[in-house]
Amino acid sequence: MRKIISVVGARPNFIKLAALHPYLKKSFNHVIVHTGQHYDYELSQNFFEELSLPNPNYNLQVGSQASSDQIKLIKSKSQKVLEREKPDLVLVYGDTNSTVGGAQASHAAKIPLAHVEAGVRSFDDSMPEEINRKTVDHLSNILFCPTQLAVKNLKNEGIKNNSYFTGDTMYEVLLKIKPSKSILSNLGIRPKEYYFATIHRQENTDNLKRLKTLIKSLSKLDRIVIFPLHPRTKKSASSTKNDYGNIMFIDPVNFKNSISLQQNSIMILTDSGGIQKEAYYLKIPCLTLRSKTEWPETVASGWNKLVDCQEKKILKCSRETVLPKKHPNYFGNGDASIKIVQIIKEFLYD
Ligand code: UD1
Repeated sequence: MRKIISVVGARPNFIKLAALHPYLKKSFNHVIVHTGQHYDYELSQNFFEELSLPNPNYNLQVGSQASSDQIKLIKSKSQKVLEREKPDLVLVYGDTNSTVGGAQASHAAKIPLAHVEAGVRSFDDSMPEEINRKTVDHLSNILFCPTQLAVKNLKNEGIKNNSYFTGDTMYEVLLKIKPSKSILSNLGIRPKEYYFATIHRQENTDNLKRLKTLIKSLSKLDRIVIFPLHPRTKKSASSTKNDYGNIMFIDPVNFKNSISLQQNSIMILTDSGGIQKEAYYLKIPCLTLRSKTEWPETVASGWNKLVDCQEKKILKCSRETVLPKKHPNYFGNGDASIKIVQIIKEFLYD
């Protein structure tokens, strides 16, 4: 049986891995390497338990580091595992530091590399994730694209072979989740009476002025705002936290509760890439707290608006309640994993 190693390390990596693992384990010896980029229970173990993922075969325990140190450490530690395990293929997911560190390790160990969620671009090089995406795509031997636009982006960068439109693995996981409303009653809130907000991206959290403006804007919304706090945001926002009556800061939530809270909200305000897509799948209007997005399809269709850090725009758009009539299918049919595993089989056995 051929061996595949998945290198993962952060929350969105685990969700994509959860889509693929059941199919990979049927056809391959699937070894999971957790880099340790996310180590808090709520951001890591919680997802493995909830999404029925087995314990990782390796945990590299890289922990918190400056970004470039973290990538270097992920690369060197992963490379050692790859040289010992000698897999036939390495799989990396999305755009995190673990994705790029794993990709560089695979390149250094001369093992073929496949990228799940390839070709996605925001065309904003100030986002670390954009640099990660480009680096990984240009190292990859097989590229699995969630949208047709992603295939086109790769073509424009000269990557014409071995890129495939498969649809989105996160859509697949969402379809399998059975959200319950118990999180709402636990929080004492009712469906369609609150906004759901998340902020954790570096461009928003590491600039305190920007973060304060965003939180102040949320505090002026006309309903309760449910706001799960990522550890990075908690650190930066500790000075501003508790000051705003309508914002309910809560601990990070698991995947199922995140989907329940999104699905029952009137609107989502976020800087997360994954949540922009989830809002689209759930047909909940989304305001993206950034100036660029890697999911322009959601904006083109009218379901997502880029409001950046502009209070007036945030408040104005929050009052627009007419939903777009059309909801085009950009992200496939929820069978990305089956397609991906079939393509891998052809790559490894032909
Ligand atoms: C990472 C991804 C981002 C993704 C997000 C999902 C990169 C470049 N970014 O961002 O694209 O949307 O994951 O959550 O990889 N920390 C903890 N506990 C943890 C993990 C992190 O307290 O378990 C703290 C660290 O002190 C660190 C900060 O959070 O300073 C940021 O963590 P890091 O893993 O670097 O990036 P994320 O912001 O989580």
